Amino acid sequence: MKLVREVTLACAGWAAVALAAQTPATFTAEQDHQNMMDQLGIKALRPGYSGDENAPNHANYDETKANAYSNVPDPLTMNDGEKVTTAKMWWEKRRPQLVEMFDEYVYGRVPAHVPPVKWTVKAVDHERIGFNAVIAKDLIGEVDNSAYPAIHVGIHMTLVTPANAKGPAPVLIMFGRAGFPAPNEPNAEEMERINKAWKALMVQQDPGLKEVFDAHPAWEPVKATPFQFPQLNADGGLPNTWQLIADGWGFALLDPASVQADNGAGLTRGIIGLVNKGQPRKPDDWGALRAWAWGAGRALEYLETDAAVDGKHVGIEGVSRYGKAALVTMAFDQRFAMVLVGSSGKGGATLLRRNFGEGVENLTGGEYYWMAGNFMKYGASEATFGSKTLGDIPVDSNELIALCAPRLTFISYGIPAKGDAKWLDHEGSFMATVDASRVFRLLGAKGLDVEGDYRTAKMPPVNQGLLDGELAWRQHDGGHTDAPNMKYFIAWADKFMGRQAPGR
Ligand code: GCU
Repeated sequence: MKLVREVTLACAGWAAVALAAQTPATFTAEQDHQNMMDQLGIKALRPGYSGDENAPNHANYDETKANAYSNVPDPLTMNDGEKVTTAKMWWEKRRPQLVEMFDEYVYGRVPAHVPPVKWTVKAVDHERIGFNAVIAKDLIGEVDNSAYPAIHVGIHMTLVTPANAKGPAPVLIMFGRAGFPAPNEPNAEEMERINKAWKALMVQQDPGLKEVFDAHPAWEPVKATPFQFPQLNADGGLPNTWQLIADGWGFALLDPASVQADNGAGLTRGIIGLVNKGQPRKPDDWGALRAWAWGAGRALEYLETDAAVDGKHVGIEGVSRYGKAALVTMAFDQRFAMVLVGSSGKGGATLLRRNFGEGVENLTGGEYYWMAGNFMKYGASEATFGSKTLGDIPVDSNELIALCAPRLTFISYGIPAKGDAKWLDHEGSFMATVDASRVFRLLGAKGLDVEGDYRTAKMPPVNQGLLDGELAWRQHDGGHTDAPNMKYFIAWADKFMGRQAPGR
């Protein structure tokens, strides 16, 4: 009896160990944040700012106090002070050095052995986007989880390409909800069958209804949805997807949440959790931005196999946090031909060293999970290493934009009056874009054509784009969206691709 009990206990013990190994750690975002602070030896972080200008801890919106940090790092100076004077030196020495620093200190590293992804077309629908026939494919990219079956990651993407294209189309991957954009309805004959079945069912439920149906023979319970004109942009333009298709492009809707949750509690799950077998991150592990970018890279790999897609001309787009993710994707993954970076702010195109709007302290506080754990050090007021500030970050966003060179990079914003908040620091993004132009030029491309350097160059008026170069800038007069810039983006990208669009 005793033996049986001991054996049972031992088994239960093993089962508990095996279960613990299998079940992902369940942390709240606060617990996960604290865990990272402990790993880094941080006792206290400076609090983030409030976006509300009337709050006592509001962000700085005084331009005269914005440029407190003068040591914006130079993309064209090696860490040891040597100047980068040739394209060869950029590719062989400086670019790898910058990538390494962004990996280690800012966005985190993509682990060396992320399991492979297998894409499956789940359904194909023949739809219409505007007046154009399209083919829409709903896809799932299953990540091999044989090493840790407790976490399942299925990347959800919907690819939409013009049905009547003459050849493979350029495609813009857009971060956002995936799913059929304009599900095709049953045709008239099929509708008739559906309605017949409905009526029969209803009569079964309530035989009295037969009389009602006989009295109104033409009435049908299910009706085709009438054509609906889409919601126009603030500038009267059509939705992004309509514009792309009308121009002969395709687009892919890529759901970031299917790769990695947009919160700290999710870090022991999703692709980050899968690779870590359900355990919390190490300080240089990737954050959500880098994980979303990784997902975009896998999406690109599927697109390269699809005959409807011109795999050499795939771009990436996103707004706000997904604008950051789009820029990160483009910066690290050189297979992407172009990017439309919408209202990306801090952690995106805006200089980290600007004291204006959102602070680095916001990115080390509630938004910490977008970044590497190591990034938290720059918000520390009390730690085993003392304290650090944004002035200690070894890289800045001018260098992130520079990593995109010489590929097509469009930085887009709206205006605060329409809701593209000052919080995003448009000026700081312009400064970074101006400075990154030097790297585009070194590589034989064109940057922003402005007078002066990033400290002195003047932002062009709203709606006046700087679109002559491979690096482009445009602030539209709409809100927190890139839609009013879409037609400029398309025409600009078409020009550089040497594409003659239908109807132009
Ligand atoms: C917050 C956050 C920004 C982010 C934005 C968004 O405002 O501070 O960094 O870009 O949310 O993604 O909507």
